[in-house]
Amino acid sequence: MTQDEMKKAAAEAALAFVEKGSIVGVGTGSTANFFIDGLGRMKEDIKGAVASSEASAQRLASHGIRLFDLNDVSEMPVYVDGADEIDGSLAMIKGGGGALTREKIVAAVAGRFVCICDQSKQVAVMGKFPLPVEVIPMARAHVARQLEALGGRPVLREGFTTDNGNIILDVHDLEITDPKGFETTVNQIAGVVTNGLFALRGADVLLLATPEGVREIKEG
Ligand code: A5P
Repeated sequence: MTQDEMKKAAAEAALAFVEKGSIVGVGTGSTANFFIDGLGRMKEDIKGAVASSEASAQRLASHGIRLFDLNDVSEMPVYVDGADEIDGSLAMIKGGGGALTREKIVAAVAGRFVCICDQSKQVAVMGKFPLPVEVIPMARAHVARQLEALGGRPVLREGFTTDNGNIILDVHDLEITDPKGFETTVNQIAGVVTNGLFALRGADVLLLATPEGVREIKEG
């Protein structure tokens, strides 16, 4: 089974979590794209979707799925998205595609976060995947110095601007043993919009695709 086949299997399994008549929160990335394509097949069963990026919005629209502005939505039973790393407590690193801030905001509104991954994303300790941090451009050097003081090696994501007009610093060489504490610490640096740790609000369900099938793992 290829990695793409596993991503697709996890995404297809997530369709069972979509409630009829609801507005669905939709993530960003190659695994989320498989979910969007599946959602396209059941678009008559849902009210619509809120996208976590311009790219996902375009893909949803291409399937004829109605898009909602998050400010007009008070109830969203489920948010479905991939991850770059996920640990045993279902805390995640996200933002490899640079959509971390909008992903965190849309996920915050949702009742449940369903994470869809192939098995390569599962780790014991997060940090091998560089932690993306969205930063207000004028704060770049200050934030980089603070991240170095925390033991990381921040690298500017060259030629990249987020959907919010900001930059991304990818922080290498981390070993994140306290994901909730580290998420809070990094978010307190002046100039940080948010960081790619989703630990304070992690996933509620992980659909982990393996060559033997999709395993459903619940938080707690
Ligand atoms: C987008 O900003 C990310 O958070 C993605 O959700 C994450 O990088 C997973 O992407 P893939 O499904 O492409 O691996």
